[in-house]
Amino acid sequence: MNIVVFVSGRGSNLEAILNSELLKGKIKIKAVFSDKLQCAAFEIAKRNSIPTYTVGDKEGCISYSNLAGILISYNTELVVLAGFLKLIPGSIVSEYKNKIINIHPALLPSFGGKGLYGINVHRAVFESSAKVSGATVHFVDETYDTGRIIAQQCVDISDVTSPGEIAERVLQVEHKLLPYVISKFADGNINVVNNRLVVN
Ligand code: GRF
Repeated sequence: MNIVVFVSGRGSNLEAILNSELLKGKIKIKAVFSDKLQCAAFEIAKRNSIPTYTVGDKEGCISYSNLAGILISYNTELVVLAGFLKLIPGSIVSEYKNKIINIHPALLPSFGGKGLYGINVHRAVFESSAKVSGATVHFVDETYDTGRIIAQQCVDISDVTSPGEIAERVLQVEHKLLPYVISKFADGNINVVNNRLVVN
């Protein structure tokens, strides 16, 4: 299965996909896209000989209107957002309906939406005094973090003393959950039954 990955920063989830035993021989990352001209995730892509593109309107970027054509040229079957901070244009969301997934570092539908990314999410979770957090992989629709939930995994945070500690625990879970969902997608094991998304 041909996938492309969208990133904005560190790229640890990109690395988890590349290193996943579950995905060996099953998927190929055809390209990595970012809204940044440079980011650590691009270095990971380059080390793995994966083409990189910056999306935007600055010099050296590809425009959002050219993005669809590039996705088609790679025969993209799944778009994975792994820490991408911008909204994917509605035209691409409708073209790739149920073929764009995002990983969110909290248990949606709580602690999601505009502005709730990175450490902001974990701070909100910490201050709420919730005793569990976790990771969510969901389909992407036109708004932040509202698409149907594909898979979630919880982590106990009852004993944490900082938002950073939550981030560390959730990240461990993310690195397993995202490759798991991609693998299920590649096997055609994610379906809607009785208006509910089911993973088999
Ligand atoms: C992850 O916590 C992901 O859930 C969120 O952004 C972070 C990206 O981390 N959407 P990385 O770039 O994959 O290391």
